[in-house]
Amino acid sequence: MVFSVLRQAAALLLLIIPSVLCQSSNLPAVPPGVFTASTRIEIKTNASAAWNTLLNFPAYPDWNPFVRSVGTKSIYTYFADARNRRAIVLSPLNLTLPDQYPVEGRNLYLRTQTPPLPLPVDSSTADNPLNTQFAYENITHVQHDLLRVAWKYVIDPKLLNAERWQAISDIGDGKVLYESREVFSGVLAAVLRDFEGEGLQKSFDAQGQGLKLFLER
Ligand SMILES: *[C@@H]1O[C@H](CO)[C@@H](O)[C@H](O)[C@H]1NC(C)=O
Ligand SMILES: *[C@@H]1O[C@H](CO)[C@@H](O)[C@H](O)[C@H]1NC(C)=O
Ligand SMILES: *[C@@H]1O[C@H](CO)[C@@H](O)[C@H](O)[C@H]1NC(C)=O
Repeated sequence: MVFSVLRQAAALLLLIIPSVLCQSSNLPAVPPGVFTASTRIEIKTNASAAWNTLLNFPAYPDWNPFVRSVGTKSIYTYFADARNRRAIVLSPLNLTLPDQYPVEGRNLYLRTQTPPLPLPVDSSTADNPLNTQFAYENITHVQHDLLRVAWKYVIDPKLLNAERWQAISDIGDGKVLYESREVFSGVLAAVLRDFEGEGLQKSFDAQGQGLKLFLER
């Protein structure tokens, strides 16, 4: 009796373990920190459509319930963005700059919602002012061959070290896998975890769901 229960338990474990181990990832291995926000979701689309959507900052407001706008220019742009609710990179003369795609080493101003806006969103969806946050980040990786992009906070890394990775992989069958992960460490990480950890996790999940809605529409 005990033996047969044990055998069933072992059989069950054998079923479960491979599915966990087989969760292959296109994200780089990074050291653990104080806490992590992450998500992964399968999307019926092709890799180039998913990758282009991820890099197309001006179109973020059309689908993204977490990152509502991305500016790559100056603090002036940042507020112009917020006013226009579009992720448009403006020059002081109000001309849209041609290059609105991520380039390594360039800074980003993000306007985000933590926790996220309810889905679906589009460019006319208003922010929840109570959940609006701003971040100043640096684009650290744009890996077109690996379909991976990353940016990190421009703050003293001893205070807060957090690099957000996002990756696309073709998993066949007309589907791609979208993954994102940010490991937070540094002196401020525990405070951020206590105040924002849960909301950040929801925002990561919601961005994956928003991307799926948009690409499968
Ligand atoms: C990928 O999907 C997009 C959008 O559905 C489509 O326009 C494009 O032709 C597809 N590309 C390939 C290589 O299949
Ligand atoms: C700048 O662009 C915004 C949005 O397109 C427009 O509403 C505004 O009138 C423009 N300002 C100037 C000075 O051209
Ligand atoms: C942004 O990152 C690049 C390297 O990826 C570095 O050279 C540059 O100093 C960084 N800029 C800021 C403001 O952190």
